[in-house]
Amino acid sequence: MISINRPRRSALYFPASNPKAIAKARTLPTDVVIFDLEDSVAPELKEEARAAALAAVSEGGFGGREVAIRANGLDTPWGAADLLAIARSGAQAVLVPKVSTPADIVRCQTALSAAPASMQLWAMIETCACIPHLHDIAALAASTRLSLWVMGVNDLAKEMRARLTPERTPFLPILSLAVAAARSHGLTILDGVCNEFRDTAVFQAEAEQGLLFGFDGKSLIHPDQIAPCNAVFSPSAEELAWAQVVIAAFALPESQGKGAIRVEGKMVELLHLEQARQLVAVAEMIAATER
Ligand code: COA
Ligand code: MG
Repeated sequence: MISINRPRRSALYFPASNPKAIAKARTLPTDVVIFDLEDSVAPELKEEARAAALAAVSEGGFGGREVAIRANGLDTPWGAADLLAIARSGAQAVLVPKVSTPADIVRCQTALSAAPASMQLWAMIETCACIPHLHDIAALAASTRLSLWVMGVNDLAKEMRARLTPERTPFLPILSLAVAAARSHGLTILDGVCNEFRDTAVFQAEAEQGLLFGFDGKSLIHPDQIAPCNAVFSPSAEELAWAQVVIAAFALPESQGKGAIRVEGKMVELLHLEQARQLVAVAEMIAATER
């Protein structure tokens, strides 16, 4: 299993066919950059976009940002060539779309056989068909390169014929099921995109909803979404201070051997100590990348 200790609060997509966006991505404070070869690239530009992504990744200049390339599906005319090329691209991850079954992940794993051991396989969770298989797909984290999921809410809406409103009501059960399946197999999981890139209030509310649901971060489509997204998915000073209080309280001699203690008038259990340590670890990862 690939284990990576880095923040993934923000993951910005851009069409690999857009050189301006590629140049801009090198300067933006996003944790992850995702070169898109799939939905945002027109069929007649697929090959050009692939070549542009490979050239930009090999040229570098992305600093501490994690670099991923989103391939076309293996059942499209471009998918196999995408995976073959991405395997040797030097990108840290390949994101594959429309994964519906464990067999889809295994096919991608096989197609990436020429990739270095460090290359991660990320998968989009965006089909109706994948929902009954979430746990079986996530379980492949133990035996394949699979390390991260990204929700694809636009494709889910299309397949379900559901309306994508700011509240995202039709999708909430699926978001929860996906987070639970990801957590049970140690995957990182990122929320879907918010199309309303000019409406900061809608974006803010949606990012906060993603945090509430347990996502590690959110996928983004526009530079203006990065700063608010990083802020939402970074532990707040208040949360960190409380985590330190909990850690200190459990370290006291009188707390030894106890599963539950009282801290500032509240019950705190060993599970809260674990959560506090997790929060401090996330804050340390963020601080390390921002140094
Ligand atoms: N990544 C990097 N740079 C981006 C960007 C992105 N996703 N979206 C916009 N920019 C850049 C623009 O090139 C422009 O740069 P400039 O100031 O040097 O001219 C600047 O940010 C402002 O862009 P703006 O005019 O506000 O947006 P736009 O109308 O040009 O583009 C979209 C709007 C939605 C078409 C564009 O944001 C986009 O392509 N987003 C990503 C789509 C995508 O990848 N979808 C697949 C996953 S769902
Ligand atoms: Mg899609």
